[in-house]
Amino acid sequence: MAVDGHTLEFCLAEEADFEEVMSISGDVYGGIDYLPVRYHAWIRDPFRRVILAKKKGQIVALVSANIVDNGHTAVFEGLRVAPLERGKGIAGLIQGYCLNLVKDQFPEVKVHRYTKSGQLAPKILTKFRLICKQEVLSVQFKAEDIRPKLEAAVAQLKESGKEWEDPVLLGASDAKRVFLSPRVVDGVLPGKTIIQDWVPYRPLESNLKKLVSQDFIWMADDKEEPTVLSVGTAPYRVPLGTGYHRLNIDIFGKQFPRARNQLLAQLQQGVSTLEVPIYCLLYFEPSMWQDMLSFCQTALGLHKDRDFEGQNLLEADM
Ligand SMILES: CC(C)(COP(=O)(O)OP(=O)(O)OC[C@H]1O[C@@H](n2cnc3c(N)ncnc32)[C@H](O)[C@@H]1OP(=O)(O)O)[C@@H](O)C(=O)NCCC(=O)NCCS
Repeated sequence: MAVDGHTLEFCLAEEADFEEVMSISGDVYGGIDYLPVRYHAWIRDPFRRVILAKKKGQIVALVSANIVDNGHTAVFEGLRVAPLERGKGIAGLIQGYCLNLVKDQFPEVKVHRYTKSGQLAPKILTKFRLICKQEVLSVQFKAEDIRPKLEAAVAQLKESGKEWEDPVLLGASDAKRVFLSPRVVDGVLPGKTIIQDWVPYRPLESNLKKLVSQDFIWMADDKEEPTVLSVGTAPYRVPLGTGYHRLNIDIFGKQFPRARNQLLAQLQQGVSTLEVPIYCLLYFEPSMWQDMLSFCQTALGLHKDRDFEGQNLLEADM
């Protein structure tokens, strides 16, 4: 395959490619790229392939396929093309190469999924099914500044009597049981999928086993009859600026007051021991957008940082 008259070559990424990959990633996601903290683990993961495209020996693109759902799904993540090489079809070419490699090496993979922000061009929907859409609210704050605001907001809700119920922290075995229960799968999860920091997983024992072994915070409004659930990442470093950490809180369910309570409890857990600037991404059911935005503004003094225009989960057969 040629781009600008030069052959495009594909290979598996190695640990030693890290610096060069970072050099093409400067503007990715406006400074909140997760790849710097995940790259080395990705390279070592036997259920993942990280592919590079090279032109004249230089890295010009990366994409990764994460094999999940008992080996039936390839989730594409991390796609990026070097800024000066965009608009030449390289994203399509590297994804095509990666798809063929997955078909070859993981023949049991039946579908290909990825999550994407923003409005969907009609062309995408000719190739992919839209499984579900979550809203994305991005806010920034300093951990030490938000703590007293969270305390005050919880105290006010407690005083109001009816509005506050303590969210329940779920340990590994409860998280597995709750997220695998048919009531949650059918009635609470968007598109019957657990989306954790943009990565979609079907609620299957093997996925839950992997997920609960990581340092995530799992919560429910009720352990036995949950209507709202959430999963928060431990904050991780991002390139945005000195000390910047990214915190992701995925909330599932449709009842705003309960989702808001989970948000407060997740934030309290997430920022409890930090003194750093945080870029926080909240994902939730689209019908709650206005309520969530006003609550963040009025009770916590937070403002929407950038417009993601939603998180779409897309799927196509292999
Ligand atoms: C988005 C990006 C990878 C597109 O690269 P590009 O080489 O300029 O894209 P091209 O216009 O050449 O290729 C478009 C192809 O990639 C696909 N594509 C574009 N954006 C995509 C995305 N976010 N996820 C998956 N595929 C995407 C298009 O559907 C199209 O496929 P087709 O050729 O089969 O129709 C590039 O702009 C980039 O690196 N942006 C910064 C990182 C980023 O936002 N990545 C998206 C992660 S979801």
